[in-house]
Amino acid sequence: MTIISDDNTFKKNIQKNPVIKSESIEYDKTFENSIRPKSFDSYIGQSELKETLKVSIEASKKRGSSLDHMLFYGPPGLGKTTLAGVVAEQMGAELKITSAPSLERPRDIIGILMSLKGGEILFIDEIHRLNKVAEEILYPAMEDFYLDMSTGKSQTAKTMHIPLPKFTLIGATTKAGELSGPLRDRFGIIHRLQFYTFEELSQVVKRTASILDIKITDEGANVIAKCSRGTPRIANRLVKRVSDFAIVKYEGEITEEVAKESLKALKIDEYGLDSTDRALLNMIVEKYDGGPVGINTLAAALGEDIRTLEDVCEPYLLQIGLLQRTPQGRKVSPQGYRHLGIKNFSSQQSLFGD
Ligand code: ADE
Repeated sequence: MTIISDDNTFKKNIQKNPVIKSESIEYDKTFENSIRPKSFDSYIGQSELKETLKVSIEASKKRGSSLDHMLFYGPPGLGKTTLAGVVAEQMGAELKITSAPSLERPRDIIGILMSLKGGEILFIDEIHRLNKVAEEILYPAMEDFYLDMSTGKSQTAKTMHIPLPKFTLIGATTKAGELSGPLRDRFGIIHRLQFYTFEELSQVVKRTASILDIKITDEGANVIAKCSRGTPRIANRLVKRVSDFAIVKYEGEITEEVAKESLKALKIDEYGLDSTDRALLNMIVEKYDGGPVGINTLAAALGEDIRTLEDVCEPYLLQIGLLQRTPQGRKVSPQGYRHLGIKNFSSQQSLFGD
């Protein structure tokens, strides 16, 4: 079947998975939603996690009880939302998706909790950004499935104890360390998502190309996989961008040459670094003598959002060893210097002991 990322596909996805958050949903989300795998079989990678989840799902079905609350953590784009969708599909349950920044007022979280039906799954993205009040509303809801709501003022105030249907909360975060202890303790199942291997990304690339109905050779898929930073979301976006080039400038097939030329035009290098990553490394080398330098200083110097640097650029640069994190700040590693094609004078000097 050929799925085209048109508005109708998007609307169908939205109807199936009501998105409660009110922010505008960009084009990329439309594309992402249209190619999300819906089952464990079509979900590539994270094999250990999938096996553990299958056991939890089967056990909950056999017991006839709701699935334990789950926390998925790891860098962005590794498939936390997708996995929540797969879990919901396997449970035959409705999935409601929201994110912590859109649960600012108590009534936001209360409204969502009260709208849940038995067995439904509530997905809260960026759960580390939940405010204290929302968190405290969530505690009894997660633990004993009730809400405590007070009405009236001071002496006349009354507390209402409202039962909720048994639901499952799936929280997702890129920063598990920023979750408060009490909230973390209320998740029965906690899983870290891993970066994808080259082989897994190559499979993701081929699957997406087939959904987009674009021909791709093994070599073409390998070139894209290599530049995908261990992240299927990036792999999928690159397939889309490269397929645009293949259709407009080439014969409509993603070959090794087409993939290489398109990525060059997109200014993505062989490690998958884009201009922001290279600007970050260059800034540390050129302005701060290779580091260490604090993230706030870097963000201000680059005119970038700290969160983008911390959540998007850094995890991969650290993972492939081009950047190092020290208590004094960020440093470019010797490999980082080599990747930029710059000689690391400071490390050469220390080699000679002066
Ligand atoms: N698209 C995004 N994540 C994916 C995954 N894990 N498997 C297949 N396609 C994907």
